[in-house]
Amino acid sequence: MSSHATPIPMTSSACGPLSGVAEVPGDKSISHRSLILGAMCVGETTISGLLEGDDVLDTARAMRAFGAEVTDLGGGNWSVHGVGVGGFAEPEGVIDCGNSGTGVRLIMGAMATSPITATFTGDASLNGRPMARVTDPLALFGTQAVGRKGGRLPMTIVGAAEPVPVRYVVPVPSAQVKSAVLLAGLNAPGKTVVIEAEATRDHTERMLSGFGAEITVEDTDEGRVITLTGQPELQAQHVDVPRDPSSAAFPVCAALIVPGSDVLVPGIGLNPTRAGLFTTLREMGADLIYENERTEGGEPVADLRAKFSPDMKGIEVPPARAASMIDEYPVLSVVASFAQGQTMMRGVKELRIKESDRIDAMAKGLRANGVEVDEGPDWWAVTGLGHGNVPGGATCASQLDHRIAMSFMILGMAANAPVSVDDGAPITTSFPIFEPLMARLGANVARVTA
Ligand code: S3P
Repeated sequence: MSSHATPIPMTSSACGPLSGVAEVPGDKSISHRSLILGAMCVGETTISGLLEGDDVLDTARAMRAFGAEVTDLGGGNWSVHGVGVGGFAEPEGVIDCGNSGTGVRLIMGAMATSPITATFTGDASLNGRPMARVTDPLALFGTQAVGRKGGRLPMTIVGAAEPVPVRYVVPVPSAQVKSAVLLAGLNAPGKTVVIEAEATRDHTERMLSGFGAEITVEDTDEGRVITLTGQPELQAQHVDVPRDPSSAAFPVCAALIVPGSDVLVPGIGLNPTRAGLFTTLREMGADLIYENERTEGGEPVADLRAKFSPDMKGIEVPPARAASMIDEYPVLSVVASFAQGQTMMRGVKELRIKESDRIDAMAKGLRANGVEVDEGPDWWAVTGLGHGNVPGGATCASQLDHRIAMSFMILGMAANAPVSVDDGAPITTSFPIFEPLMARLGANVARVTA
């Protein structure tokens, strides 16, 4: 679990051209959902390509605590013998979700309509994040929650013994909230309806349908209306987890800013609810090509080829695109530092309540490395210095946030002086092979030993 990891200071310095093939790990969102949905089926679900990062391993442990048999078969292959919808057992101990907001929020939803009680905790980052966004809609099913001030973990959830179905308009653009309500709706009789004004990642809807639930999605004037019929018998499946576009973002962005680079990142899902970064980079003038476009498991997939792009321009990122690239703004801000002119990012207040306040974490670190950043409550703007002009040279606080740590490591690859982070340990939550993968491409990322 990441909760007690010892800090790992890291540094990244200029390197020659990055080249080769970057096979990034499985998608974090789909990995969590495969374990949770597998645990809610009767029978054996098999999973290949599971992301074996700390966040997902914490979810695997949690599913065992709720009674599922979860087995690591080696090589990214896992087996889950589930307990069926409504079959969760009461865990004996506290459920520690480490650093993972997705893990804790989805699991709270999944257990919320069973007559059991569970207590959740996490690391310092997760214990500071708001949970009322999930416990408020869960209360409509009849679920009770008692946490610390401000709806923070540690928190005890008392599942509804006689849940009722709900109709809920999600007030913030959040796939975690939407998914928690849908997973709770699985064990409520009748139809649970979730409405989102802005489309967020739709893995839960797609996977629920794949596991045999009756679920419909309609685009209306109110937004996306998702209707789930409760108490289905989910069908155990094989899930082949695609590679994570949010992890692909790091080698792609590194290749765009390191002179002479040419990197292929194969098999990346381009589900429109996840691919906003790549569209944005192309609008900035990135040499980023989709090769071998195909459909796999009903999802658009391509091999991404990214080449050094010295002439990128700052742009205004459309706020309507925010949900489809919400995890990629930190690394986008690094690329924006090497572009010409300003990159303006609006409609992104959700960034302030991720694993860290990501606007604050990136703004402080970029400024320390010589890049001008302006910010407001729900926007920020990076003034690009152009290729070859980013000073670097500073140590940045990663604030227990994997994506902040990796973003600054990417900055160091093309800045004029090395860039360091105080703690790269959180990288293992989502991208445990980040260091060897970047090293194989030719990057100089090193752990700093005292
Ligand atoms: C996720 C949803 C997003 C994202 C997170 C993964 C998911 O969070 O930031 O990394 O798997 O549902 P929000 O729902 O809070 O936007």
